[in-house]
Amino acid sequence: MEEIKDQQVISMPCIGDPAPEFKAVTTQGEMNFPSDYKGDWVILFSHPADFTPVCTSEFMTFASMEEKFTKANCKLVGLSIDGLYSHIAWLRTIKEKIEYKGMKNVEVNFPLIEDIKMDVAKKYGMIQPNEDSTKAVRAVFFIDPKGIIRTIIYYPLSLGRNFDELYRVIIALQTADAFGVATPADWYPGDDLIVPPAGSCGTAKERMESEDKDMKCYDWFFCTKKMDKEKVLEKVLK
Ligand code: BEZ
Repeated sequence: MEEIKDQQVISMPCIGDPAPEFKAVTTQGEMNFPSDYKGDWVILFSHPADFTPVCTSEFMTFASMEEKFTKANCKLVGLSIDGLYSHIAWLRTIKEKIEYKGMKNVEVNFPLIEDIKMDVAKKYGMIQPNEDSTKAVRAVFFIDPKGIIRTIIYYPLSLGRNFDELYRVIIALQTADAFGVATPADWYPGDDLIVPPAGSCGTAKERMESEDKDMKCYDWFFCTKKMDKEKVLEKVLK
C-alpha cells in the first residue's frame, strides 16, 4: 500500500506480503533479513528513540520475556532511527543502572538495528510523518518461518505496548496454523477454538446435527471445538 504525503512516498507492507528484505548493522553483528531467520518466527519491532522512558520500559519488559518467546520459536529484532553507539550505550545503561518494576541487570541479547538513514524504517512504514517525521512509531511485525508477514500492530509514540498481547499473538498464529482453526476474541490456550465455517449446505447440516461432544455450534456458521491447553502448547512450544 502506498500513500503520497508531502511529496513523500510512504510504503506500508501488508499482511500476507513477503517481509521486505534488507541488510543491516545491529548490536549483535550484521543481519540479512529475513533470510537469517528462515525457519523461525520473528517479531520485528521499532521504537522511537534510545534513552527515552517508554522505550526503556518496553526493552526491559521484552528482554525479560525473551526466553518465553524463544520457547515459542520466536526471535526478537528491534530497530530505531539511532546509531550503533547510541544503541550500545543505551543497552549498557539499562543493564547497569535501571531498576524498574522488579526488573534489574536486564541484558538485551536480541539484535537492535541501527537505522540512521531510515532505510529499513521507510520500507516497513515505521515512519508516519503526522505522528513524527524523524522517529519511528511503535510498529510490530509478526513474520512466519517462510518470511511472510502475518500480523501488524502499530502504536503511537506515547503508548507502551502490551507484551503479553504480543506473546498471545505469536501463540495464536501458530495454533491457527497447526490445527487449521481460527481463534476467537480474547482467546488464550485452553479456550475453545473456531472451526472454519461450513463451506456447503451438507457440512452445515452435519455440523448442526453433530454429536461430537468437543464441538459446539451456536449456529451453522459459528462452531467451536475444545482443545486442551496442553495439546496446544505441546504443538507450539519447544
Ligand atoms: C518514550 O519512549 O518515552 C518516548 C519516545 C518518543 C516520544 C515520546 C515518548
